[in-house]
Amino acid sequence: MCGIVCYVGPKPCSNIILDSLKKLEYRGYDSAGIAVYHNGEINVTRTEGKLNRLGEALTQAPLDGSVGIGHTRWATHGKPSEANAHPHLVDHIAVVHNGILENHLELKRELAQEGAVFSSETDTEILAHLIARARAETGDLKSAVRQSLYQVQGSYAIAVLSTHEPERIVVAKNASPLVLGRGEGETFAASDIPAILEYTREMIFLDEGEIATIDAEGFAIEKLNGDPVRREPKTINWSPVQAEKGGFKHFMLKEIHEQPLAVENTVRSRISVETGDVASERIGLDDASALRVRRVVLIACGTSHHAALVGKYWIEALAQVPAEVELASEYRARGPLVDPNDLIVAVSQSGETLDTLEAVKVAKSGSARSLAIANVLDSAIPRTTDGALYTHAGPEIGVASTKCFTTQLAALFMLAVFLGRRRNTLSQDRAQKLLRGLMEIPNLMREVLTVEKRIAGIARQHAQFSDFLFLGRSYSFPIALEGALKLKEISYIHAEGYAAGEMKHGPIALIDKNLPVVVIMPHDGSFDRIVGNLQEVLARGGKAIVITTSGDKVLDGLDIERIEIPPCPVELTPLLTVLPLQLLSYYVADFKGTDVDQPRNLAKTVTVE
Ligand code: AGP
Repeated sequence: MCGIVCYVGPKPCSNIILDSLKKLEYRGYDSAGIAVYHNGEINVTRTEGKLNRLGEALTQAPLDGSVGIGHTRWATHGKPSEANAHPHLVDHIAVVHNGILENHLELKRELAQEGAVFSSETDTEILAHLIARARAETGDLKSAVRQSLYQVQGSYAIAVLSTHEPERIVVAKNASPLVLGRGEGETFAASDIPAILEYTREMIFLDEGEIATIDAEGFAIEKLNGDPVRREPKTINWSPVQAEKGGFKHFMLKEIHEQPLAVENTVRSRISVETGDVASERIGLDDASALRVRRVVLIACGTSHHAALVGKYWIEALAQVPAEVELASEYRARGPLVDPNDLIVAVSQSGETLDTLEAVKVAKSGSARSLAIANVLDSAIPRTTDGALYTHAGPEIGVASTKCFTTQLAALFMLAVFLGRRRNTLSQDRAQKLLRGLMEIPNLMREVLTVEKRIAGIARQHAQFSDFLFLGRSYSFPIALEGALKLKEISYIHAEGYAAGEMKHGPIALIDKNLPVVVIMPHDGSFDRIVGNLQEVLARGGKAIVITTSGDKVLDGLDIERIEIPPCPVELTPLLTVLPLQLLSYYVADFKGTDVDQPRNLAKTVTVE
């Protein structure tokens, strides 16, 4: 996720672009930049850090001009720094980009052989070189952009400004958002509605594979193949605050709905269904280290700890390596035994959680190989580990982790397949089936999210209870823990997650009509046993909310609330069963009126002991 803004019109534009970028800061805030055309030149100002730093730089050295592009960055390739900030300027052509170019390494090699010199570590600069090269050949900016886009694979929304055609900007989109807006004698483009809502309410959303030229009079949209596109503008009636959240009431709800795309971004370019494999250069671990591993130690806190628990099941099942999961705070304190053949995997959305960072330092003192699974590029934990596997979920603003949990799961699943393939414990055939299943998960997630209204209704009926129990077996046990944590942290309702097999060892004593029990029971090898647990709950008057696979007959006729997920490979059920639980907690909390995005006493990044 990054934010893009473009302006073409009669007014001085740098402050307009800066103000519009501020409305997109939720999309990224590690560096920012702006390029403005003036008197035959493109002048660029870029700064590391949040947008106020760019604002300060522009106050000290204002940029004149009325045609410009701007960007606020969420790093995916190349650490947050001024050199990696956009726009990237190559031969009088400035480019801003939101997305991930999958084949950037191959293209970079090719361009370098032809003599291109790079000044950043970004994939975007490669695109700037491609466009500059094509423009020199064709003499036309739009054709150059089109020709270059045919060479890249991956997701993009881009804006391109050139001194050769300074009265217009070329924009294009594939799998990253871009909206165009027309004002009085001025035209805008942006990654999201709030950026330009102050100037216009008539907006056109670009579709996949479309390219547009914008100038002060408006815009012309085409397909990449040159076919013209005619589309009526939509009138946006959102309030500015509503708009920042994309029309959702809270960031948490927006992020719940972003999960299909976020998982696509995590998996994108790393796996090959054809070969049934995961690329080692894209997973932060080399083949030799994968072969040497005798034990995997996963270290994390909170929600990331629950993802790590699922990861343990996958690593043991697919790679046949013993795996242990450690709470970072406990691990760092107890003086753990570390073997040189251990693989230490630190899981952290922020990459800055102090306990996890300190635990990694403790583990590294034993010369074990270490890997970070993190969302924030170049944060402290991936900087400390030997390798990093970034989840590319985009910034998560809600304190309750949702899309970062499911993208951590996707990353851990790829790690387990990678280890299994290298160690010959996972056949190509089975790996192909599993990776095909993983590729289908985003669409299945979209299907699960359609039950939102029903879940909101169930939440309303249960919001007055003061305690909840969440039960699961096998892969669903960590999901029970996660469901309970989500409910606790945003609704302040006491909730416990339990392995269903442990019921009879204590928690069954709690069950009565005042205890809603959420049972996570997709069709897997434990299904028959957990049906028994469900019967025990119902026999004691408990109220059950059941998450199960569609098409089930065994549960017919039971007095339960049933929420269904579509069938998928057993191993992948955690990526689907957690979604109804996130929605349930969200709607219980919203109904109670708590501060969903910033619940009391909690911080998004815990950098204290
Ligand atoms: C989850 O909803 C919480 N925000 C919290 O448990 C979080 O997962 C934990 O603090 C770990 O954070 P990290 O992933 O950034 O290390």
